[in-house]
Amino acid sequence: MIKELKSLKAAVEKAVETAKDAVELEKIEIEYLGRKGKLTALLKGVASVAEKDRPAVGTLANQIKREVWELLEIKKRELTGGRLSVLGETEREDVTEPGIRPPEGHLHIVTQAIREIAQIFEKIGFMRTRYPEVDWDWYAFESLNMPPDHPARDEWETFFMDVPASEKGKMVLTPHTSNAQVRELERGELPVRMINIAKCYRRQSDVTHVPMFHQFEGLYVDKNVSISHLRGVLNYFAQEFFGSGRKTRLRPFHFRFTEPSFEIDISCGMCGGTGVGGDKQKCRMCKSGWLELGGAGMVHPNVLKAGGVDPKKYSGFAFGWGIERTYMMKEGMRIDDIRTLYKNDLRFLKQF
Ligand code: DAH
Repeated sequence: MIKELKSLKAAVEKAVETAKDAVELEKIEIEYLGRKGKLTALLKGVASVAEKDRPAVGTLANQIKREVWELLEIKKRELTGGRLSVLGETEREDVTEPGIRPPEGHLHIVTQAIREIAQIFEKIGFMRTRYPEVDWDWYAFESLNMPPDHPARDEWETFFMDVPASEKGKMVLTPHTSNAQVRELERGELPVRMINIAKCYRRQSDVTHVPMFHQFEGLYVDKNVSISHLRGVLNYFAQEFFGSGRKTRLRPFHFRFTEPSFEIDISCGMCGGTGVGGDKQKCRMCKSGWLELGGAGMVHPNVLKAGGVDPKKYSGFAFGWGIERTYMMKEGMRIDDIRTLYKNDLRFLKQF
């Protein structure tokens, strides 16, 4: 019995030694220690050993059983430890590797348009300015040749602030960026080449209007400024912003702060300015070949005077357009409701 126990232990040792993985090891465990295992069978046999030898045989049997367990345990650890160390080689983390940037989003399309417009004008020497978006009536209307109670003011659906008036009148949420004209002239530095981009507010909301929107206001004041200069600047802008194929035209109009005044149209990007769509019908976008962009004109002498500039020596032109509107007229833009720009729907915004 003792011999058998010892040779069994030797056999286990050998088997464990050559085992290559956990599966083999498990087989060995079952073969020897399982319910019908060889060692289990031997241990059962201890009961039938002669009584005087039983304690010694019993002790040895138990010791061998323990040793076999230990052997198996050690080998198990060795094998799994080995697997971990292999993993360590192939799947080690390289902490010096640059990480993957989490998605950061991008600038809102209106911000993108503002930056693009500012850059286009900076190239021809127009500096971006910032003036209050909550301003006195004087700058928003009166200095622009619109006396109090003048009916022309009605066009601007203005929000008034509930605060005491000053000698410059009531305080308003600027309904256009033209308030910057007299503020810029007041600085007293001529010539003026300004591009003012700001928020504007009007009491209106429909597919082409939002209560808060943006405009950009150009102002050029110098000696001998003429309508040709205005045309040149507008054409330059149209081609930079919309593409080289687009043209502008001036249509006579009336604004209190310019004389003469114009509305500026741009040739339609959809029908190429012909007014005829692909189906030989009237172009759906413009109906006439032209899209209306904004207002412009030669600065009214009263506005120059309000800004402390002598209209006999200086002249200038001004223009003012909505950013959202202008952006929506880019080729390929199919935004049919201006309000979607401000709904913060990521599915929409992510497209740009
Ligand atoms: N402020 C005008 C508006 O909001 C647009 C405008 C027209 C601006 C003529 C100008 C201009 O500078 O000369 O409708």
